[in-house]
Amino acid sequence: DKANYRHFMAKEIHEQPEVVGHTLARYLDMGAERVALPAKLPFDFNDIQRISITACGTANYAGYIGKYWFERFARLPVEIDIASEFRYREAPLRKGDLAIFISQSGETADTLAALRYAKEQGLHTLSVVNVPTSTIARESEIVMPTLAGPEIGVASTKAFTCQLTVLAALAVAAGRARGELSEQDETRLVHGLIELPRLMAAALATEHQVERLARDIAKSQDVLYLGRGTSYPLALEGALKLKEISYIHAEGYAAGELKHGPIALIDEKMPVVVIAPYDRVFEKTVSNMQEVAARGGRIILITDAKGAEEATVESLVTIVMPDMDAAFTPLVYAIPAQLLAYHTAVVMGTDVDQPRNLAKSVTVE
Ligand code: M6R
Repeated sequence: DKANYRHFMAKEIHEQPEVVGHTLARYLDMGAERVALPAKLPFDFNDIQRISITACGTANYAGYIGKYWFERFARLPVEIDIASEFRYREAPLRKGDLAIFISQSGETADTLAALRYAKEQGLHTLSVVNVPTSTIARESEIVMPTLAGPEIGVASTKAFTCQLTVLAALAVAAGRARGELSEQDETRLVHGLIELPRLMAAALATEHQVERLARDIAKSQDVLYLGRGTSYPLALEGALKLKEISYIHAEGYAAGELKHGPIALIDEKMPVVVIAPYDRVFEKTVSNMQEVAARGGRIILITDAKGAEEATVESLVTIVMPDMDAAFTPLVYAIPAQLLAYHTAVVMGTDVDQPRNLAKSVTVE
Protein backbone atom coordinates (compact mmCIF):
# COMPACT_ATOMS: atom_id res chain seq x y z
CA ASP A 1 0.00 0.00 0.00
CA LYS A 2 1.46 3.31 -1.13
CA ALA A 3 -0.53 5.35 1.41
CA ASN A 4 -0.91 8.75 -0.24
CA TYR A 5 2.25 8.53 -2.24
CA ARG A 6 2.56 8.20 -5.98
CA HIS A 7 5.29 5.57 -5.72
CA PHE A 8 6.59 3.15 -3.12
CA MET A 9 9.96 4.83 -3.40
CA ALA A 10 8.52 8.17 -2.26
CA LYS A 11 6.77 6.47 0.64
CA GLU A 12 9.92 4.64 1.63
CA ILE A 13 12.05 7.79 1.49
CA HIS A 14 9.57 9.51 3.80
CA GLU A 15 9.41 6.58 6.21
CA GLN A 16 13.08 6.90 7.06
CA PRO A 17 12.87 8.98 10.24
CA GLU A 18 10.44 6.43 11.64
CA VAL A 19 12.21 3.22 10.64
CA VAL A 20 15.63 4.53 11.63
CA GLY A 21 13.98 5.37 14.95
CA HIS A 22 12.74 1.79 15.30
CA THR A 23 16.16 0.41 14.46
CA LEU A 24 17.83 2.72 16.98
CA ALA A 25 15.40 1.60 19.66
CA ARG A 26 16.52 -1.98 19.03
CA TYR A 27 20.25 -1.20 19.22
CA LEU A 28 20.44 1.44 21.93
CA ASP A 29 19.48 1.78 25.53
CA MET A 30 18.10 5.27 25.08
CA GLY A 31 17.67 5.95 28.79
CA ALA A 32 21.19 4.91 29.75
CA GLU A 33 22.60 6.44 26.53
CA ARG A 34 24.50 3.27 25.73
CA VAL A 35 24.70 0.91 22.81
CA ALA A 36 22.80 -2.30 23.63
CA LEU A 37 23.08 -4.83 20.80
CA PRO A 38 20.08 -7.13 20.32
CA ALA A 39 22.22 -10.28 20.20
CA LYS A 40 25.16 -11.42 22.30
CA LEU A 41 28.33 -11.63 20.27
CA PRO A 42 30.11 -15.02 20.26
CA PHE A 43 33.52 -13.29 20.05
CA ASP A 44 35.43 -10.48 21.71
CA PHE A 45 36.23 -7.46 19.52
CA ASN A 46 39.70 -7.49 21.09
CA ASP A 47 40.41 -10.82 19.39
CA ILE A 48 39.45 -9.54 15.97
CA GLN A 49 42.35 -8.35 13.83
CA ARG A 50 40.40 -7.42 10.75
CA ILE A 51 36.80 -7.14 9.64
CA SER A 52 35.75 -7.97 6.15
CA ILE A 53 32.51 -6.43 4.91
CA THR A 54 30.85 -7.87 1.81
CA ALA A 55 27.70 -6.84 -0.05
CA CYS A 56 26.35 -5.72 -3.42
CA GLY A 57 25.05 -2.41 -4.72
CA THR A 58 23.60 -0.03 -2.18
CA ALA A 59 24.31 -2.45 0.67
CA ASN A 60 27.96 -2.36 -0.37
CA TYR A 61 27.99 1.44 -0.11
CA ALA A 62 26.49 1.18 3.38
CA GLY A 63 29.35 -1.18 4.21
CA TYR A 64 31.85 1.28 2.79
CA ILE A 65 30.58 3.95 5.17
CA GLY A 66 30.71 1.36 7.97
CA LYS A 67 34.39 0.85 7.19
CA TYR A 68 35.13 4.49 8.02
CA TRP A 69 33.27 4.09 11.33
CA PHE A 70 34.94 0.85 12.44
CA GLU A 71 38.33 2.23 11.57
CA ARG A 72 37.76 5.54 13.32
CA PHE A 73 35.85 4.40 16.41
CA ALA A 74 37.46 1.01 17.01
CA ARG A 75 40.79 1.32 15.18
CA LEU A 76 39.91 -1.94 13.47
CA PRO A 77 41.06 -2.39 9.88
CA VAL A 78 38.19 -3.15 7.53
CA GLU A 79 38.25 -4.55 4.04
CA ILE A 80 35.22 -3.78 1.95
CA ASP A 81 34.34 -6.02 -0.95
CA ILE A 82 31.77 -6.41 -3.64
CA ALA A 83 30.37 -9.92 -3.09
CA SER A 84 31.07 -11.12 -6.63
CA GLU A 85 34.73 -10.14 -6.22
CA PHE A 86 35.20 -11.44 -2.71
CA ARG A 87 34.09 -14.92 -3.74
CA TYR A 88 36.68 -15.44 -6.36
CA ARG A 89 39.71 -13.44 -5.36
CA GLU A 90 40.87 -15.89 -2.69
CA ALA A 91 41.61 -13.22 -0.12
CA PRO A 92 43.74 -14.48 2.76
CA LEU A 93 41.39 -14.68 5.72
CA ARG A 94 42.29 -15.32 9.33
CA LYS A 95 40.30 -17.90 11.30
CA GLY A 96 38.36 -16.26 14.10
CA ASP A 97 38.17 -12.85 12.38
CA LEU A 98 34.83 -11.25 11.63
CA ALA A 99 33.03 -11.18 8.28
CA ILE A 100 29.98 -8.92 7.95
CA PHE A 101 27.42 -9.38 5.17
CA ILE A 102 24.85 -6.72 4.37
CA SER A 103 21.69 -7.43 2.40
CA GLN A 104 18.22 -6.01 2.31
CA SER A 105 16.63 -9.12 0.78
CA GLY A 106 18.96 -11.64 2.39
CA GLU A 107 18.76 -13.61 -0.86
CA THR A 108 21.41 -12.01 -3.08
CA ALA A 109 23.24 -14.94 -4.69
CA ASP A 110 26.76 -13.51 -4.59
CA THR A 111 26.44 -12.29 -1.01
CA LEU A 112 25.14 -15.68 0.07
CA ALA A 113 28.00 -17.47 -1.68
CA ALA A 114 30.49 -15.11 -0.02
CA LEU A 115 28.93 -15.87 3.37
CA ARG A 116 29.30 -19.61 2.79
CA TYR A 117 32.91 -19.12 1.75
CA ALA A 118 33.72 -17.10 4.88
CA LYS A 119 32.10 -19.76 7.05
CA GLU A 120 34.21 -22.46 5.43
CA GLN A 121 37.29 -20.38 6.20
CA GLY A 122 36.41 -20.35 9.90
CA LEU A 123 35.36 -16.72 10.22
CA HIS A 124 32.62 -15.44 12.47
CA THR A 125 29.74 -14.42 10.21
CA LEU A 126 27.42 -11.57 11.06
CA SER A 127 24.67 -10.44 8.72
CA VAL A 128 22.82 -7.16 8.61
CA VAL A 129 19.57 -8.09 6.88
CA ASN A 130 16.11 -6.68 6.46
CA VAL A 131 14.28 -9.97 5.89
CA PRO A 132 14.73 -12.06 9.05
CA THR A 133 13.53 -15.28 7.43
CA SER A 134 15.93 -14.99 4.49
CA THR A 135 18.62 -17.50 3.57
CA ILE A 136 21.46 -15.14 4.53
CA ALA A 137 19.87 -14.56 7.95
CA ARG A 138 19.37 -18.29 8.49
CA GLU A 139 22.90 -19.22 7.56
CA SER A 140 24.71 -16.52 9.53
CA GLU A 141 26.15 -17.09 12.96
CA ILE A 142 24.83 -13.72 14.16
CA VAL A 143 21.92 -11.74 12.70
CA MET A 144 21.58 -8.01 13.21
CA PRO A 145 18.19 -7.06 11.77
CA THR A 146 17.40 -3.74 10.15
CA LEU A 147 13.88 -2.73 11.03
CA ALA A 148 13.08 -0.96 7.78
CA GLY A 149 9.92 -2.98 7.13
CA PRO A 150 9.17 -4.29 3.63
CA GLU A 151 10.99 -2.34 0.94
CA ILE A 152 9.08 -2.55 -2.35
CA GLY A 153 10.77 0.02 -4.59
CA VAL A 154 13.63 -1.57 -6.52
CA ALA A 155 15.82 1.39 -5.60
CA SER A 156 16.91 0.83 -2.03
CA THR A 157 16.37 3.80 0.28
CA LYS A 158 15.15 3.06 3.79
CA ALA A 159 17.03 -0.25 3.93
CA PHE A 160 20.23 1.73 3.29
CA THR A 161 19.78 4.17 6.18
CA CYS A 162 18.73 1.34 8.50
CA GLN A 163 21.86 -0.61 7.49
CA LEU A 164 23.89 2.48 8.37
CA THR A 165 22.14 2.70 11.73
CA VAL A 166 23.08 -0.88 12.61
CA LEU A 167 26.67 -0.45 11.43
CA ALA A 168 27.04 2.75 13.45
CA ALA A 169 25.83 1.03 16.62
CA LEU A 170 28.12 -1.94 16.00
CA ALA A 171 31.13 0.29 15.37
CA VAL A 172 30.51 2.19 18.61
CA ALA A 173 30.17 -1.14 20.46
CA ALA A 174 33.47 -2.28 18.93
CA GLY A 175 35.15 0.98 19.92
CA ARG A 176 34.00 0.61 23.51
CA ALA A 177 35.00 -3.07 23.71
CA ARG A 178 38.47 -2.27 22.42
CA GLY A 179 38.93 0.68 24.76
CA GLU A 180 39.23 3.12 21.88
CA LEU A 181 36.13 5.04 22.94
CA SER A 182 35.56 6.29 26.47
CA GLU A 183 32.21 6.25 28.21
CA GLN A 184 31.86 9.96 27.37
CA ASP A 185 32.62 9.26 23.72
CA GLU A 186 29.90 6.64 23.72
CA THR A 187 27.40 9.04 25.30
CA ARG A 188 28.24 11.72 22.73
CA LEU A 189 27.90 9.31 19.82
CA VAL A 190 24.68 7.77 21.14
CA HIS A 191 23.29 11.30 21.48
CA GLY A 192 24.20 11.86 17.87
CA LEU A 193 22.37 8.71 16.86
CA ILE A 194 19.26 9.53 18.87
CA GLU A 195 19.03 12.87 17.06
CA LEU A 196 18.94 11.23 13.63
CA PRO A 197 15.18 10.79 13.14
CA ARG A 198 14.60 14.49 13.85
CA LEU A 199 17.45 15.52 11.54
CA MET A 200 16.24 13.24 8.77
CA ALA A 201 12.80 14.79 9.02
CA ALA A 202 14.43 18.21 8.64
CA ALA A 203 16.29 16.95 5.56
CA LEU A 204 12.98 15.84 4.04
CA ALA A 205 11.80 19.44 4.26
CA THR A 206 14.13 20.33 1.36
CA GLU A 207 11.94 18.27 -0.99
CA HIS A 208 10.38 21.21 -2.86
CA GLN A 209 13.76 22.71 -3.54
CA VAL A 210 15.10 19.35 -4.75
CA GLU A 211 12.02 18.89 -6.92
CA ARG A 212 12.71 22.19 -8.72
CA LEU A 213 16.32 21.19 -9.19
CA ALA A 214 15.26 17.83 -10.65
CA ARG A 215 13.64 19.59 -13.64
CA ASP A 216 17.05 20.89 -14.53
CA ILE A 217 18.93 17.64 -13.84
CA ALA A 218 16.47 15.76 -16.04
CA LYS A 219 17.93 17.63 -19.04
CA SER A 220 21.47 16.36 -18.37
CA GLN A 221 23.23 13.48 -20.00
CA ASP A 222 25.74 12.91 -17.24
CA VAL A 223 25.97 13.88 -13.59
CA LEU A 224 29.01 13.66 -11.35
CA TYR A 225 28.77 13.17 -7.58
CA LEU A 226 31.71 14.08 -5.36
CA GLY A 227 32.46 13.62 -1.68
CA ARG A 228 35.28 12.96 0.77
CA GLY A 229 35.40 10.72 3.82
CA THR A 230 32.03 9.08 4.49
CA SER A 231 30.53 11.42 1.87
CA TYR A 232 32.55 9.54 -0.76
CA PRO A 233 30.60 6.25 -0.54
CA LEU A 234 27.48 8.39 -0.29
CA ALA A 235 28.45 10.03 -3.59
CA LEU A 236 28.67 6.52 -5.08
CA GLU A 237 25.23 5.77 -3.71
CA GLY A 238 23.74 9.04 -5.01
CA ALA A 239 25.05 8.25 -8.49
CA LEU A 240 23.74 4.68 -8.38
CA LYS A 241 20.29 5.89 -7.34
CA LEU A 242 20.12 8.41 -10.20
CA LYS A 243 21.24 5.97 -12.88
CA GLU A 244 18.96 3.16 -11.68
CA ILE A 245 15.72 5.04 -11.92
CA SER A 246 16.27 7.99 -14.29
CA TYR A 247 18.68 6.20 -16.66
CA ILE A 248 20.89 9.28 -16.68
CA HIS A 249 24.53 8.37 -16.62
CA ALA A 250 26.00 9.27 -13.24
CA GLU A 251 29.28 8.59 -11.51
CA GLY A 252 30.48 9.03 -7.98
CA TYR A 253 34.06 9.99 -7.24
CA ALA A 254 36.19 10.77 -4.26
CA ALA A 255 36.56 14.55 -4.56
CA GLY A 256 40.32 14.25 -4.40
CA GLU A 257 40.35 11.96 -7.43
CA LEU A 258 38.77 14.62 -9.64
CA LYS A 259 42.03 15.89 -11.02
CA HIS A 260 43.23 12.38 -11.75
CA GLY A 261 40.88 11.99 -14.68
CA PRO A 262 37.20 12.88 -14.38
CA ILE A 263 37.88 16.62 -14.48
CA ALA A 264 38.34 16.16 -18.22
CA LEU A 265 34.57 15.60 -18.49
CA ILE A 266 33.60 18.91 -16.96
CA ASP A 267 32.00 21.59 -19.09
CA GLU A 268 29.01 23.96 -18.81
CA LYS A 269 26.61 21.11 -19.38
CA MET A 270 27.82 18.97 -16.51
CA PRO A 271 26.04 19.17 -13.17
CA VAL A 272 28.30 18.20 -10.27
CA VAL A 273 26.63 17.26 -7.01
CA VAL A 274 29.03 17.95 -4.15
CA ILE A 275 28.20 16.32 -0.82
CA ALA A 276 30.13 18.31 1.75
CA PRO A 277 29.07 18.82 5.34
CA TYR A 278 31.24 21.35 7.17
CA ASP A 279 33.65 18.78 8.63
CA ARG A 280 37.41 18.38 8.85
CA VAL A 281 37.77 17.76 5.10
CA PHE A 282 35.43 20.55 4.01
CA GLU A 283 38.19 22.97 2.94
CA LYS A 284 39.71 20.28 0.75
CA THR A 285 36.41 19.66 -0.96
CA VAL A 286 35.97 23.41 -1.53
CA SER A 287 39.22 23.47 -3.45
CA ASN A 288 37.90 20.66 -5.64
CA MET A 289 34.73 22.68 -6.18
CA GLN A 290 36.85 25.61 -7.32
CA GLU A 291 38.38 23.35 -9.94
CA VAL A 292 34.89 22.44 -11.17
CA ALA A 293 33.71 26.06 -11.16
CA ALA A 294 36.78 27.21 -13.10
CA ARG A 295 35.71 24.89 -15.92
CA GLY A 296 32.13 26.06 -15.99
CA GLY A 297 30.72 22.99 -14.21
CA ARG A 298 27.39 23.60 -12.51
CA ILE A 299 27.69 22.87 -8.82
CA ILE A 300 24.90 21.57 -6.65
CA LEU A 301 26.19 21.81 -3.12
CA ILE A 302 24.68 19.76 -0.31
CA THR A 303 26.07 21.15 2.93
CA ASP A 304 25.04 22.74 6.25
CA ALA A 305 24.61 26.39 7.21
CA LYS A 306 28.27 26.83 8.10
CA GLY A 307 29.37 25.13 4.88
CA ALA A 308 27.05 27.33 2.83
CA GLU A 309 28.62 30.39 4.45
CA GLU A 310 32.23 29.23 4.10
CA ALA A 311 32.08 27.84 0.56
CA THR A 312 33.85 30.43 -1.55
CA VAL A 313 32.45 29.07 -4.79
CA GLU A 314 29.38 30.00 -6.82
CA SER A 315 26.96 27.13 -6.78
CA LEU A 316 23.88 26.74 -8.93
CA VAL A 317 21.92 25.49 -5.95
CA THR A 318 22.85 25.00 -2.31
CA ILE A 319 20.80 22.52 -0.34
CA VAL A 320 21.19 23.17 3.35
CA MET A 321 21.09 20.27 5.80
CA PRO A 322 20.60 20.73 9.56
CA ASP A 323 23.60 21.07 11.89
CA MET A 324 24.61 17.76 13.39
CA ASP A 325 27.32 15.48 14.74
CA ALA A 326 29.81 15.12 11.88
CA ALA A 327 30.10 11.35 12.38
CA PHE A 328 26.66 10.45 11.14
CA THR A 329 26.04 12.85 8.26
CA PRO A 330 25.54 10.08 5.65
CA LEU A 331 22.15 9.16 7.11
CA VAL A 332 20.89 12.71 6.70
CA TYR A 333 22.66 13.66 3.46
CA ALA A 334 21.34 10.47 1.84
CA ILE A 335 17.89 12.04 1.82
CA PRO A 336 18.46 14.88 -0.68
CA ALA A 337 20.42 12.42 -2.86
CA GLN A 338 17.48 10.00 -2.87
CA LEU A 339 14.96 12.78 -3.47
CA LEU A 340 16.99 14.13 -6.36
CA ALA A 341 17.05 10.73 -8.06
CA TYR A 342 13.36 10.22 -7.36
CA HIS A 343 12.14 13.57 -8.68
CA THR A 344 14.40 13.41 -11.71
CA ALA A 345 12.92 10.02 -12.60
CA VAL A 346 9.40 11.40 -12.12
CA VAL A 347 10.20 14.27 -14.53
CA MET A 348 11.62 11.78 -17.03
CA GLY A 349 8.50 9.64 -16.71
CA THR A 350 10.30 6.37 -16.01
CA ASP A 351 8.86 3.47 -14.06
CA VAL A 352 10.24 4.55 -10.69
CA ASP A 353 9.41 1.48 -8.63
CA GLN A 354 10.17 -1.06 -11.37
CA PRO A 355 13.01 0.38 -13.43
CA ARG A 356 13.90 -1.47 -16.62
CA ASN A 357 16.31 -4.39 -16.44
CA LEU A 358 16.40 -4.46 -12.63
CA ALA A 359 15.04 -6.91 -10.07
CA LYS A 360 14.46 -6.24 -6.39
CA SER A 361 16.40 -9.29 -5.38
CA VAL A 362 19.24 -10.64 -7.51
CA THR A 363 19.21 -14.38 -6.94
CA VAL A 364 21.37 -15.26 -9.93
CA GLU A 365 25.12 -14.78 -10.05
O1 M6R B 1 18.99 -7.32 -1.26
P1 M6R B 1 20.38 -6.78 -1.27
O2 M6R B 1 20.59 -5.68 -0.30
O3 M6R B 1 21.41 -7.87 -1.11
O4 M6R B 1 20.57 -6.17 -2.73
C1 M6R B 1 21.81 -5.66 -3.12
C2 M6R B 1 21.67 -4.85 -4.39
O5 M6R B 1 21.16 -5.66 -5.44
C3 M6R B 1 20.78 -3.64 -4.22
O6 M6R B 1 21.21 -2.79 -3.21
C4 M6R B 1 20.69 -2.83 -5.53
O7 M6R B 1 21.93 -2.24 -5.82
C5 M6R B 1 19.57 -1.79 -5.42
N1 M6R B 1 18.76 -1.82 -6.59
C6 M6R B 1 20.09 -0.41 -5.16
O8 M6R B 1 19.11 0.56 -5.17
